[in-house]
Amino acid sequence: HYMLKEIYEQPKAITNTLEGRLGTDHVVVESFGNGARAIFDQVEHVQIVACGTSYNSGMVARYWFEEIAGVSCDVEIASEFRYRKSVVRPNSLLVTLSQSGETADTLAALRLAKESGYMSSLAICNVPGSSLVRESDLAFMTRAGAEIGVASTKAFTTQLAGLLMLVASVGHCRGHLSAAAEAELVKALQALPLRIKESLALAKDIEALAEEFADKHHSLFLGRGSQYPIAMEGALKLKEISYIHAEGYPAGEMKHGPIALIDERMPVVAIAPHDHVFEKMQGNIQEAKARGGAVIAITTAGDDTLWRLP
Ligand code: M6R
Repeated sequence: HYMLKEIYEQPKAITNTLEGRLGTDHVVVESFGNGARAIFDQVEHVQIVACGTSYNSGMVARYWFEEIAGVSCDVEIASEFRYRKSVVRPNSLLVTLSQSGETADTLAALRLAKESGYMSSLAICNVPGSSLVRESDLAFMTRAGAEIGVASTKAFTTQLAGLLMLVASVGHCRGHLSAAAEAELVKALQALPLRIKESLALAKDIEALAEEFADKHHSLFLGRGSQYPIAMEGALKLKEISYIHAEGYPAGEMKHGPIALIDERMPVVAIAPHDHVFEKMQGNIQEAKARGGAVIAITTAGDDTLWRLP
């Protein structure tokens, strides 16, 4: 079916997203439009607006903007943003994210922002010529190819690749990102298609885990830092495609309520790569196991720490 086809198209889709937009050690700032450099030089705040999966990719980018580019960033669901009064900070860039470029709330948010004092607007979008692209000052096409499946898959990962390039460009223009750090990011971006192929090669193991999951009615997806929105996206996908109730939570919030729900009938999916909050995630996984929860952990290849947890 289309969803599976599109999942397997990700290495190619990301290759297309990167094509012609990376130098040997830098991101080509003009990939975001001819006027991009002048805007990125001055930007002091980024406001991201989107819906659904696109919102989740924006949430990931928030961590990146503040950590990598040193620029403050807020992310808001478009259907909230458009119906409330918000204060626009000086030199704010509005970034809209959308696969289709036609989502009514995101489009309305852009139109509202254009009258509210934002310095400029940038659309990260998959459909050239869409309303969002036509009405924005700057545009970056994700080039994921047509997404027919209802669940965003390659649209999401190509958005993330585009967002990381945006963060690197803004960090570069603002003088916050060192040349060495930018070169590292470029290397990581170039490695992405291969990394995704490696993940896709795990399909048989993942299918076996899915068998265990299939008869459950509820599940909890946990992550910390930039993996928290990845957990939210996992939960969204499960709800949408499997009709299994799923919640995405910041793992540190588990003890403030949802832990009461964890037992052997409730699988817990923990996104726990070997990063600066890995130890904290280990603590959360232990708590879930202590309540009888069946934990499925997604971690860094070759790291067996989580197997050895009591
Ligand atoms: O086309 P958009 O990215 O603006 O669509 C927004 C959401 O409707 C969309 O991301 C939706 O949440 C996904 N298709 C879910 O998989």
